Amino acid sequence: MTSTLPGYFISFEGIDGAGKSTHIDSFCKLMKERFPSREVVLTREPGGTPLGEQLRSLLLDAPMNLETEALLMFAARREHIAQVIEPALLAGKVVISDRFTDASFAYQGGGRGLSISKLNDLEKWVQGRPDGSILQPNLTILFDLPGEIAEARRSKVRAPDKFEKMNLDFFDKVRQEYLRRANENPQRFHLVDATKTPDAIWSELEAIQIHL
Ligand code: TYD
Repeated sequence: MTSTLPGYFISFEGIDGAGKSTHIDSFCKLMKERFPSREVVLTREPGGTPLGEQLRSLLLDAPMNLETEALLMFAARREHIAQVIEPALLAGKVVISDRFTDASFAYQGGGRGLSISKLNDLEKWVQGRPDGSILQPNLTILFDLPGEIAEARRSKVRAPDKFEKMNLDFFDKVRQEYLRRANENPQRFHLVDATKTPDAIWSELEAIQIHL
């Protein structure tokens, strides 16, 4: 069972270089214009809290055992939910997060090979609510594109972090796991063809129907 809180939770996902960061600020502004009575909170994972941001620096730089990496991602997430996401949703706010749990399934699961059953357990533990429901985004916007195109885009921007240094095979597996999650949860996911131009993608984002 997915939780129903008074707020609305949106996550942005995709492989590195898919272009989600190009649109997230404008999308946040669009939500503020469209729902003037709602506060809009923009946040990110790993991160979103002082502790989470410290964990982010470690996660994006330090090589580590796969289980350690998954546990730290979910530890940062637990703090993020407790300090930021859940209070905001309880207060009826719109929360927009640059990545959430689908990224753990895609990167630690698909990319690095952690078993999906371990990830399911962590998800239940960290996102479980007192009423037995599991906190999930109401809407996940997935920027999907082939690994080669994302790689070409990434190389133009800046020095790569630990994940961005991974090879094409890794990103193909990350992408496949994102698509598997999207297929399993078609009512939650909105798939964006990220090979399109930024203008075309923006028109598509503007057309998404959100009912608060
Ligand atoms: P990203 O969101 O792409 O930020 P930036 O635009 O600053 O590079 O970087 C976060 C990285 O962390 C990205 O490579 C995916 C990875 N990640 C995981 O591996 N697992 C997770 O659960 C999350 C949230 C992120």
